[in-house]
Amino acid sequence: MEKLPDLRQLSFPIKYGSGRIPALGFGTLIPDPIETTLATKHALEAGFRHFDCAERYRNEREVGEALHQWLSESGTPRERVFITTKLWNTNHRPDRVASAFEGSLQRLKLEYLDLYLIHTPFAFQPGDNQDPRDARGNIIYDEGVTLKDTWRAMEALVAPGKLKAIGLSDIGLEQLREVFDSANIKPAVVQVESHPYLPQTELLEFCTKNGIVMLAFAPLGHGMKPGVLEDRVITGIARRVNQTPAQVLLAWAVQRGTAVLTTPKTPARARENWNIAALPEDAMAEINAIKTRQQFNPVTATGIPGFIAKGN
Ligand SMILES: NC(=O)c1ccc[n+]([C@@H]2O[C@H](COP(=O)([O-])OP(=O)(O)OC[C@H]3O[C@@H](n4cnc5c(N)ncnc54)[C@H](OP(=O)(O)O)[C@@H]3O)[C@@H](O)[C@H]2O)c1
Repeated sequence: MEKLPDLRQLSFPIKYGSGRIPALGFGTLIPDPIETTLATKHALEAGFRHFDCAERYRNEREVGEALHQWLSESGTPRERVFITTKLWNTNHRPDRVASAFEGSLQRLKLEYLDLYLIHTPFAFQPGDNQDPRDARGNIIYDEGVTLKDTWRAMEALVAPGKLKAIGLSDIGLEQLREVFDSANIKPAVVQVESHPYLPQTELLEFCTKNGIVMLAFAPLGHGMKPGVLEDRVITGIARRVNQTPAQVLLAWAVQRGTAVLTTPKTPARARENWNIAALPEDAMAEINAIKTRQQFNPVTATGIPGFIAKGN
């Protein structure tokens, strides 16, 4: 019988940078600070060693606290955990990039980051207000900076002991190609929405061909209903392989060659979302044949993130 890999231990090499990125990652987009600390702790206890943060989530402090407490209590070296955070849209001007990076490092209480991403390709009016709006409530964009300008400033941050790799998020193939072609340090990772209703096959092919890791968010379609968790193909396979629909979706993502982020909030969900198992080939083929197409997060159209609590 064919021997299936242990997906929980899978990691991908970072070609443009150094180290490896664990395939199964924990996302920290959790509006409540206490819930953030608890969920981060539960994720570490379940087995997650890859953490996705962002300046915009406004909870880097809580993630950092949970992480340091666990590292010290378990005697685990920092190097065993892969930590990413992201530059927010209001810090795209090159003269703001280094201080935004340092601010994240301080809040996370870290000496170095494994990965720093440009959160979206949209530049907002620079300043401390993360959600700058005009009198009509429309976002104020910043026409005075290009993505290439910001990328150059990101490149300048990469240094031993400080930052291992840089990448992009919420980007389409065309813009990725432009940055890739002109970059001195190529994007190591690209984080985008991806699930069976938005497989991003062309982007994945480009990434695979060029040694970029594609990192999927919303693998469970953000839990929205109706959505991928209730899809009949997914629930049918889940019954057949004795896994939950969430486990099937996470396994599919990893097995097709993407890293993936999930955000379980309870200890039971953390164990469920960590304990994924490889799917047989026929199940992979069935999921790949799903025809429904749906994007759940509108961020690629506007740069405005979905799912951040009001007032944050
Ligand atoms: N780059 C970007 O712009 C961007 C955008 C969005 C997210 N992200 C990153 O991606 C991470 C993952 O986000 P996500 O929202 O897609 O997380 P997710 O874990 O895929 O989906 C979260 C939703 O699924 C539900 N859920 C979680 N585990 C479940 C399970 N085992 N069974 C049934 N439902 C389950 C949750 O329900 P409960 O609420 O009941 O727990 C929640 O509604 C974020 O934390 C963030 O780091 C990045």
